[in-house]
Amino acid sequence: MRKLMKWIGTGLLGLVVLILLAGVVLYATTLRRLDRAYTLPNEPITVPVDPVSISRGQRLVTARCGGCHGENSVGMVIFQDPMLGTISAPNLTAGRGIGGAQLKDGDYVHAIRHGVDHTGRPILTMPSEYFYSINDQELGEMIAYLKSTALVENSLPATRITPLGVALIGAGAFGDLIAAEKIDHQAARPATVAAGITVAYGEYLVQAGQCRTCHGPDLTGGKDPDPNAPPAPDLTTTGELTAWEENGFIQMFRTGKTPTGRQINPFMPWKEIGQMTNDELRAMWLYLQSLPTE
Ligand code: HEC
Ligand code: HEC
Repeated sequence: MRKLMKWIGTGLLGLVVLILLAGVVLYATTLRRLDRAYTLPNEPITVPVDPVSISRGQRLVTARCGGCHGENSVGMVIFQDPMLGTISAPNLTAGRGIGGAQLKDGDYVHAIRHGVDHTGRPILTMPSEYFYSINDQELGEMIAYLKSTALVENSLPATRITPLGVALIGAGAFGDLIAAEKIDHQAARPATVAAGITVAYGEYLVQAGQCRTCHGPDLTGGKDPDPNAPPAPDLTTTGELTAWEENGFIQMFRTGKTPTGRQINPFMPWKEIGQMTNDELRAMWLYLQSLPTE
């Protein structure tokens, strides 16, 4: 009996050592992925300076980025857990980036379209695989707005992931958080889709609006990578939306309430996305109602 206990004890100890070793290996390989320096093509972009373009940029940045960088781009802590670490979306006012660095036009292109920061390292959680599609005109307007904002002081804790958090990211416990690894950085730019109340433009707006981060790659339902996030429902014709009709869809982004009067959970950035115009929301509605395509 005593011998059996000893064998079991040794076996358990061996298992613990194995798990620890696997954790250390996962930690080391993930750290390398997070520390990888990317060399990116130079994509020249025209950044306008006129007030109309800047105000268009403000609308687009609020709608697409406000859920993480805050309504006025002053940044916020988007995830905090004592065991796993802290992720802050930085304060972007007065043209600043991570750690208060002053960004150049090319730095914005790399951050937004490629998910790579001004030091060449991948940006965690920012969904650049969707922002990759943002066209040159809109990207220019967004950069113009970010550069033009007045400095607003808002000190945030630096992004810091614990070794356990790093190992769990490597194990894919929160999905795939490194957008830079999912993007073909050398690919030709997608063709620009003409603005209009069309299915094609709606498809562009849904892609650039990163709805898929939460509602899933085929928009039939999913969940934000944050473990505390509620599920995000099916937005296609197999979901509840069809019964809402176009006006109910638009009103949800204006009031935060569904046609049945239910208040939408704040994990859904309805107020920020509500910066989109009626015509833009109509185009998104047309696209969503055209799904699924088979
Ligand atoms: C899901 C959350 C999320 C969304 C949405 C998001 N970001 Fe970020 N962003 C982050 C995080 C997190 C960081 C970097 C954190 C770190 O490493 O300290 C970051 C960093 C940045 C940086 C700094 C890069 C540098 O080199 O210093 C810029 C600029 C930026 N984001 C712009 C945007 C813009 C513009 C949008 C909208 C098109 C956007 N972000 C949407 C989370 C987000
Ligand atoms: C950060 C995650 C996130 C993003 C990004 C996001 N959503 Fe949502 N969305 C949610 C969650 C969570 C809910 C469920 C909220 C509730 O039921 O209270 C939701 C609910 C909705 C609903 C209500 C659906 C229903 O059946 O009740 C609509 C419509 C919607 N989202 C559209 C969009 C569109 C369009 C986009 C992109 C422009 C988008 N969402 C981007 C998380 C997100």
